[in-house]
Amino acid sequence: MKYALTVLATLAVLGLGALIFPYTGLMNVAATAGHTSIEQWYLSTMSRRSIQARAGDAAVPNVLADSATIARGAFAYLEMCQTCHGGPDVERSVTGQGITPEPPYLAETADRWQPNEVFWIVQNGIKMAGMPGYGPTHTDEELWELVAFVKQLPEMTPERYAALTTPDDASAEDNPATPLADDGHDHTH
Ligand code: HEC
Repeated sequence: MKYALTVLATLAVLGLGALIFPYTGLMNVAATAGHTSIEQWYLSTMSRRSIQARAGDAAVPNVLADSATIARGAFAYLEMCQTCHGGPDVERSVTGQGITPEPPYLAETADRWQPNEVFWIVQNGIKMAGMPGYGPTHTDEELWELVAFVKQLPEMTPERYAALTTPDDASAEDNPATPLADDGHDHTH
């Protein structure tokens, strides 16, 4: 009985402490301060396990090796992801460099994730990490285009990356990501 009361009292004190802690201002929320190795372990283990548990084994569409799909994914990546994740021989922008935890270079880490896990991450984002979720603004088809491109990154040469992410006027009509010529823009400048 006495033992049970001591345990309960200790838990109550710990719980109260945890509730009061945010008010003390002791936690340094500066992104520039980085995470301690314990915080880093806690957050990254929690994210990894959460993503693995939720990504499931939903069927992966049969388009991941399709070159038009990859090309569309490349333009979306340039527009939405490169600023934080860089590319082969392309640095993260100053914005990407300022985020804690650091957004990884996907060219180095994409191999660690299954396609359905990359899909889940891009669709839902990772809270507490500054990784945006694109599900509310994009169709599943567009998200799979990004997955197709991201899964190519670890093997991609800087030259191929540059070619895929540079609009090429000469081949504009072949390029699935280039807006059609009659989109209302003035091309005569
Ligand atoms: C505002 C910056 C930002 C943008 C924009 C962004 N990300 Fe992220 N991303 C992050 C951060 C931060 C993490 C998490 C790092 C961590 O948990 O250690 C992350 C994690 C990831 C991961 C998991 C990688 C790993 O190895 O842990 C993938 C995959 C990913 N992002 C893909 C994308 C894709 C694809 C896009 C574009 C559609 C994108 N991200 C846009 C910041 C960003």
